[in-house]
Amino acid sequence: MCGIVAYLGNQDAYPRLIKGLHRLEYRGYDSAGIALLNGNIQVYKKKGKVSELEAHSAQQHTPATLGIGHTRWATHGEPNDINAHPHLSGNGRIALVHNGIIENYDLLKTALQKEGHTFESETDTEVLVKLIQAIQDRDGLPIEEAVRLALTRVVGAYAIVVIDQQDPNKLVAARKASPLVIGIGKDEFLLASDATPIVEHTNKVIYLNDEEIAVLHRSGDLEIKTISNEVQTPYIQQLDLKIEMLEKGGYDFFMLKEIMEQPMTLTNCMRGRINADEGWIHLGGVEEYASRITQAKRLIIVACGTSWHAGLIGEYLFEDLARIPVEVEYASEFRYRNPIIGEGDVVIAISQSGETADTLAALEIAKEKGALIFGIVNSVGSSIARVTDAGSYIHAGPEIGVASTKAFTGQVTLLTLMALDLAKRRGTISEGYYHRLLTELTLIPEKIKRVLEQDKKIQYIAAEIKDHTNALYLGRGYNFPVALEGALKLKEISYIHAEGYPAAEMKHGPIALIDDNMPVIVIATNKSAYDKIASNIQEVKARKGRVFAIVPEDDETISQIADYCIEIPETEEPLSPLLSVIPLQLLSYHIAVMRNCNVDQPRNLAKSVTVE
Ligand code: AGP
Ligand code: GLU
Repeated sequence: MCGIVAYLGNQDAYPRLIKGLHRLEYRGYDSAGIALLNGNIQVYKKKGKVSELEAHSAQQHTPATLGIGHTRWATHGEPNDINAHPHLSGNGRIALVHNGIIENYDLLKTALQKEGHTFESETDTEVLVKLIQAIQDRDGLPIEEAVRLALTRVVGAYAIVVIDQQDPNKLVAARKASPLVIGIGKDEFLLASDATPIVEHTNKVIYLNDEEIAVLHRSGDLEIKTISNEVQTPYIQQLDLKIEMLEKGGYDFFMLKEIMEQPMTLTNCMRGRINADEGWIHLGGVEEYASRITQAKRLIIVACGTSWHAGLIGEYLFEDLARIPVEVEYASEFRYRNPIIGEGDVVIAISQSGETADTLAALEIAKEKGALIFGIVNSVGSSIARVTDAGSYIHAGPEIGVASTKAFTGQVTLLTLMALDLAKRRGTISEGYYHRLLTELTLIPEKIKRVLEQDKKIQYIAAEIKDHTNALYLGRGYNFPVALEGALKLKEISYIHAEGYPAAEMKHGPIALIDDNMPVIVIATNKSAYDKIASNIQEVKARKGRVFAIVPEDDETISQIADYCIEIPETEEPLSPLLSVIPLQLLSYHIAVMRNCNVDQPRNLAKSVTVE
């Protein structure tokens, strides 16, 4: 959601800003803009894609070595050219880009209007730049000090970057609950919402912390202080990110690349963490707090969207294997419902981006109440990874497609490793079953390859579903969350309304929707509930519904009654979501392509939801 990029150095800022904005497109946005400082500030802004901004500005702009850029995901004021960022102070001296929400913007705006300031846009952001100007006008302060004082009056979330026409050798940036990374290159700084625009220039970065302000000087000097004016020591880290990871690598869409990468990403997730022959699992994050986690009275999993679906599978895994009670919560609900949390609780946050505002806020609450906070995160160095007491990365590599695929299977793999580790430590699993699950888990990447080989068949089935306006996904037990995930994948990228349901719950409502116009996708791989799922399918068929079933290889019963089947290799039931989700990812991908949808950047969605 929203992207910020900024450049200060001795090269031309414009191409770097535009390329940086392209790199940030995957985060989701509705308009884009840049400001360049070369004597005075030139601003170019456009509703729509970065390419439209480029077409509008490429011929007009003059060279500059300092500039800021932004992709906006509107929160206050519709997406249009005027509301797009950067916003300027009334005297044209200061330009600012902002990610987040200034919650008290109305109060501040009224006060500024009384002082004679006028506003062009409907955004909360413009209030901030005018407030900085007001402080500067009143006290004649340098830009960084005016920014700092303005931020002491702001309630809300922000990542901002500011430039001042009268200080052309300086970039000022600050953050609270929205990400910002500073890249330190040779004689240049590149600053961005995440590392993707930075990696081709440098791998030396500083992740700015909450309530910190950074002042970057053309001389190469860099200062960081807090909003309450305490000087901080910068902590420089090495990025472990390769530029190829950010390219499509010959695929038409990132989503397809990411689906196809899963045998590799799961191998990476397990590397060094599991040895089936010797029967061990090592998860650094768990080992560090082994006794607290093993003795947890309860695990509370907080997450949003696809990560929440992974959390639901976690609930089945932890309860079934490690016999620890689990609650799975939408982070957005958890944070506002005064949850009961105690010191014996372990709160696990699951997040691909590590920046989801609700998940981050839920963690802060749990931390205040004394729980141990554990993170299952993909994006290295992200906010959630940094606030947690312990955690494990899923090592899926950057996920660019808005629809989460490889992160989901990485999260489920990590949860499986964790549940097995805890089960062993707590003595809740037999030796034989533990070894079988370990061995099977290491075979999953190869089995995923076999599912991926059925792509052509899945494409054929996609053509059968693509013109429908609704779809129902059914699953039971471990595969109920997979039904939810399949439905989410379909609706978010192809805009077909879809619902996921526990198969047996269908009778309590959704069955009323079934007729020959309703495709029903059934995950029928659970051995423990096979006959019951077969009966659920009969119920659908009796009402003329069309059934697309995911069945185990060599299945005999369900393949006789379903209209279409996709076979997946046999595995142990707790691991089956890792295989059954793959055809559902491919199915929604192909349907979206057939419907000419923007697969990687679906409308209205953002990859990193950094506002609540
Ligand atoms: C997944 O396909 C979605 N686009 C979305 O639901 C996502 O999973 C959710 O926003 C959570 O994101 P996170 O994992 O980065 O916290
Ligand atoms: N709240 C600001 C706006 O609506 C910033 C949105 C964003 O993060 O892109 O303009």
